[in-house]
Amino acid sequence: MNKGEQLYSGKAKSVFRTDDPERLILHFRNDTSAFDGVKLAQLERKGEMNNRINAFIMQKLEAAGVQTHFIEQLGPEESLVRRLDMVRVECVVRNVVAGSLSKRLGIEEGLVLDEPVFEFFLKDDALHDPMINESHIRVFGWASEEETAGMHRLSHTVNGVLKPLFADAGIMLVDFKLEFGRADGQLVLGDEFTPDGCRLWDAQTHKKLDKDRFRRDLGEVVESYREVARRLGVPLDD
Ligand code: TMP
Ligand code: ASP
Repeated sequence: MNKGEQLYSGKAKSVFRTDDPERLILHFRNDTSAFDGVKLAQLERKGEMNNRINAFIMQKLEAAGVQTHFIEQLGPEESLVRRLDMVRVECVVRNVVAGSLSKRLGIEEGLVLDEPVFEFFLKDDALHDPMINESHIRVFGWASEEETAGMHRLSHTVNGVLKPLFADAGIMLVDFKLEFGRADGQLVLGDEFTPDGCRLWDAQTHKKLDKDRFRRDLGEVVESYREVARRLGVPLDD
């Protein structure tokens, strides 16, 4: 698969064309961003760790019947994916109170929820990804009602697959963000599932093993991602 011109470069990944217009290459970079690009750093081997964790998780989701854009891992920092027409909405599932939910509602971080909370956000860094609801999505035309219901349903399905997967590795899946796109009229999971876009706590000690280590200057960021990979059984060499 020949790597073509760069189509797009985000905060942590770059997207390249291939010979096939329906297939793209995702390059996971070491660039790390928090607070919508306000805090930036280069963390050695983060790109590789995220590419490997993402490949592992996407394959687990596919095996559980969730359609994803993932096709195959190409190298340490690159994977081949299907081209999607991305929905401008981010889907967040929370099993435990943390982050913006804790701030917004004044509820202490760490409260384990009886059932998951689901939230939509608009993908817009300049606006700091504001929270939106089904009505906004419908009225402003960001997705159809069917797609909106599909994103909600699939997000819960992903939680149902990943919460026990992480639990078996001694990790609490606190919350996570998903992005979906369209291909052949179907909703497909796109973007990534990595410790950059979820919260993972050690089940015993509640030690943070995700990007909150970077956001909150806790150190050992990539070491923690590697620990997640090791516990999940993600292959760390080709
Ligand atoms: P939040 O607590 O800041 O709303 O984030 C909830 C989860 O979603 C957390 O695991 C981080 C993830 N997330 C992203 O990956 N990117 C984003 O732009 C936002 C807002 C959240
Ligand atoms: N993903 C966003 C950023 O890169 C928000 C965050 O993770 O804090 O800035």
